[in-house]
Parts: sequence; C-alpha cells; structure tokens
Amino acid sequence: MMILVGGEKGGSGKSCLAQNLAVYFARNKKAIVLMVDCDPQRTTSDWIQVRNTDPSLPSINCIQLYGKIRNDLLSLNQHYDYVIIDCGGQDNLALRASMSVADHVVIPLRPKRRDLKTVPHMEDMLSTCKMVNPKMLASFLIAQCPALPSQAKRIEEAKEVCRSYGINVLNAVTYNRNIYDDSEEQGSSVIELDPEGKAALEMIAIAEELMAMKPDDSHEFN
Ligand SMILES: Nc1ncnc2c1ncn2[C@@H]1O[C@H](COP(=O)(O)OP(=O)(O)O)[C@@H](O)[C@H]1O
Ligand SMILES: [Mg+2]
Repeated sequence: MMILVGGEKGGSGKSCLAQNLAVYFARNKKAIVLMVDCDPQRTTSDWIQVRNTDPSLPSINCIQLYGKIRNDLLSLNQHYDYVIIDCGGQDNLALRASMSVADHVVIPLRPKRRDLKTVPHMEDMLSTCKMVNPKMLASFLIAQCPALPSQAKRIEEAKEVCRSYGINVLNAVTYNRNIYDDSEEQGSSVIELDPEGKAALEMIAIAEELMAMKPDDSHEFN
C-alpha cells in the first residue's frame, strides 16, 4: 500500500502527517513501513535519524528519492506493507511520479486562503495523474485548525472550497496543538507521546478514514 502525503504549500503539515501515519501503521498495525523523503530539506530523514537513536522507539526505514521515482516506488512497494511518501512542491517531478502510482494521496491544507489557493492546481495535477493511475484515492485534509469554536466556520468553508473542485475532503481534521511540534523534536509521534491524547485520536481517525475509503468516495473526474 502506497500513501503519498503531498501538496505544494510549505508548512501545511505534510511531513508531520507522513511521520505520524508511519508510526500508526508500524505500531498499531504491526506493519513493515518505509518512509520516502522527497524533500531536499530532509525534514523526515532528519526526524528518522533522531528516532533511530532512541532504542525505545520502534525503528522505521527511510530513504531519499528525487525526480523520476515511479519505478523505484513500484519496486519498493513490493517489499513493504506500507510505503509512505513525504513530497512537497519543490520536487514537482517526484510529486507527479508519486501520484502516478500511489493508492492514496492526502493533501493537507490549513484553513487559510494561501493554502486554499493551491486547490485548483492540485486538482489539475490529480486529474492528469488519475488517467494513468485510476485506482488512486485522493483527499484533502484540513490541518492545523484553530480550536476556538468561533472559528469552526472557517474549517467548514475550507472543506467547501475543496469539495467545489470535486475532490474528497476527510471528515477528520487536525487542530493546532503543540504536541505535534514537541513529538517531532524527539523523533517521536503524537501516538507515542500521548497515546490517549486528542492529537493521537486525530491521527488514528485520519488513518482509519483513509483505510475505510472505497473507490467511489474519491474524486469524480469527468
Ligand atoms: N496540527 C498541527 N498543530 C500544530 N503544529 C503543527 C501541526 N501540524 C504540523 N505542525 C507544525 O507545523 C510545522 C510545519 O509542519 P511540516 O509537517 O514540516 O509541514 P510541511 O512538511 O508541509 O512543510 C512544523 O513545525 C510542525 O510541527
Ligand atoms: Mg515537509
């Protein structure tokens, strides 16, 4: 199973989500997981490096791949239960290559205008890649949401923008919580730092929603 956490906007939470999903599958599902880091800034590779110095944390493999990575991904996918790709906008080729083979594409967006402005271009890229990869299930995730009840409308409006482009939006969202930043620092995940905490429940909800998706739930391309 190949899951791409992608998108063009920096800081939306791609690396954070990719890392937490990797831990979820490795820990909660006892799966063999590989992370693929396509970001030249090596956020996920650095996180793995810190993680693998702590013997109390189950180790996760990670490799860096750039550019035309389609065939590499296909062959790696045969050796792992889950391949989780962290790919930002800097490597547009890798983003397209990953979309052309991934089972799931998740694109985190903050409920902010600058993030939402990337939706039309993402939709365009997704529809092109869906032609060669019709099984792909693509979803937006509204991430780093403000917790104040008075801001709930912003979250709904962001979901509505995504839906207006015909792309699935996950019901699950993530809220702005310091534990995401704190866990990263230690090579850990929110699931490990506070397994019963709200952030851990957010990550579990996202993973479960993805795994429950049926082909029809996804994007309806015309
Ligand atoms: N739900 C969240 N709440 C609070 N901070 C978050 C959340 N998700 C991500 N972050 C923080 O936002 C910053 C950018 O996240 P990151 O995953 O590196 O973004 P990207 O990979 O999309 O550029 C990091 O410091 C990360 O800890
Ligand atoms: Mg990143």
